[in-house]
Amino acid sequence: MTASKRIVLSSDHAAIALRQTIAKHIEALGYTVTDLGPTTPESTHYPKHGEAAARHVAAGESDLGILLCGTGQGIMMAANKVKGIRCGVCSDTFSAQMIRAHNDANMLSIGARVVGEGLALEIVDAFLKTEFEGGRHGTRVDMITEIEG
Ligand code: RB5
Repeated sequence: MTASKRIVLSSDHAAIALRQTIAKHIEALGYTVTDLGPTTPESTHYPKHGEAAARHVAAGESDLGILLCGTGQGIMMAANKVKGIRCGVCSDTFSAQMIRAHNDANMLSIGARVVGEGLALEIVDAFLKTEFEGGRHGTRVDMITEIEG
């Protein structure tokens, strides 16, 4: 377990089952989970769910966030509109490590219609276990933050 212990999750209707599986998995690993839902299968709109979880992270209520929608793309785009959020979509474990190590990503997005459950859990593990390396990568992340104004 790393220093990042509080994890917020959110999704749209396309990813409820995988989100709940991830929540149970990381709770079993000892993380404190805030699951913002939704829990019922009606069609919903990914921007509001991405924004809610992103604001949770930006406010410091969780250390890291995990988002899911069908592709992971739309909910990632919404989250990245919130100041202070760096969210990447990952379909492989290398990228999940690198968005933490080099980009200091504070949110991970996964496409529930893209990756299977086993790979999704490995992606989550890679993201949560990896620490930001700082140094020259810090300079570059600071440059991203400056773009926010
Ligand atoms: C919902 O059908 C789908 O558009 C959504 O889950 C996501 O893939 C959008 O990026």
